[in-house]
Amino acid sequence: MSADPLLLEVKGLKMHFPVSRGFGRAPGWIYAVDGIDFHLRKGETLGLVGESGCGKSTTARAVAQLHRPTAGQVLLKGQDLTRLEGTPLIAARRAMQMVFQDPYASLDPRMTAGDIIAEPLRIYNTRGITHVSRQDLSLRVDELMERVGLSRRFKNRYPHQFSGGQRQRIGIARALALRPELVLCDEPVSALDVSIQAQILNLFKDLQAEFGLAYLFIAHDLAIIEYISTRVAVMYLGTIAELSDAADLYCNPLHPYTQALLSAAPIPDPKVEASRQRIILTGDVPSPDRVRAGCPFYDRCWKRMDHCRERTPRLREAGPGHQVACFLYHDPD
Ligand SMILES: Nc1ncnc2c1ncn2[C@@H]1O[C@H](COP(=O)(O)OP(=O)(O)O)[C@@H](O)[C@H]1O
Ligand SMILES: [Mg+2]
Repeated sequence: MSADPLLLEVKGLKMHFPVSRGFGRAPGWIYAVDGIDFHLRKGETLGLVGESGCGKSTTARAVAQLHRPTAGQVLLKGQDLTRLEGTPLIAARRAMQMVFQDPYASLDPRMTAGDIIAEPLRIYNTRGITHVSRQDLSLRVDELMERVGLSRRFKNRYPHQFSGGQRQRIGIARALALRPELVLCDEPVSALDVSIQAQILNLFKDLQAEFGLAYLFIAHDLAIIEYISTRVAVMYLGTIAELSDAADLYCNPLHPYTQALLSAAPIPDPKVEASRQRIILTGDVPSPDRVRAGCPFYDRCWKRMDHCRERTPRLREAGPGHQVACFLYHDPD
């Protein structure tokens, strides 16, 4: 266990979205994130994995306060961001920046690469949080571009003049401009070609080693999560099913959902691939549009027991550094 102080502490985080169900019907709710807890220490990577729609992006956005959480606390270096607004929130959030999946959609097509990278610092300057001179700002942009592997000569080019991988490098430089300690990465390589994915993943690793960055790293690809993560949280239907040291999760998955996910992932060795058992999940991921009693995975679980229908398992320690929300490992209270 590392003794580094906690950088981020997320407690009981919920993000429910109101949705209209059509004329004359009562509005309903989408329970996108429904009570999750995790923390991050300096320099570590927590991988967040799970099927599409399980609440990964919503978690990152609620942590960043791009969505204001319905409930729970988001403590960044001990300060609860959910209680702040306006300039105090922006100032407090400085240590935490975001990188998005689709660099094309997240970069303003009318701004040059240099202006995009400088924008966070300009905003902080305007709000009086930072006081970086025009000359220093320009130097900082040059430095950042070189650091992420882009020539400073490209400063005046527009996003469409870059490749997908280069655009993501611009997105990373922009996130680093405020010298964050934590970067929330929402599927930052999912839209890229496989060969480019490896380069960008290695860039993330190099930057982490150099600046001691912590990452919350979202991906649906288990191989990417294994490569990048110190610890891994597996999400299912707005909750965390299992959270463990990465190596332990891949050797010894405990939750039936994690076991199914890992058994479906391809293994590069054809012999192992041919001989192993696959667990095929039946049914679809349920829609997060109602509150369910019992375990969120009940409908699709092949190890379910009677009490799993009524009782909701909480994330509990099942071994050192390994938590699981499943009654196979602890009794209902
Ligand atoms: N702004 C929103 N309004 C209503 N529902 C939303 C909103 N954002 C996300 N959702 C819903 O919340 C659930 C989780 O979405 P998301 O966090 O994007 O999942 P993931 O990133 O894991 O694919 C989905 O059912 C999605 O449709
Ligand atoms: Mg997403």
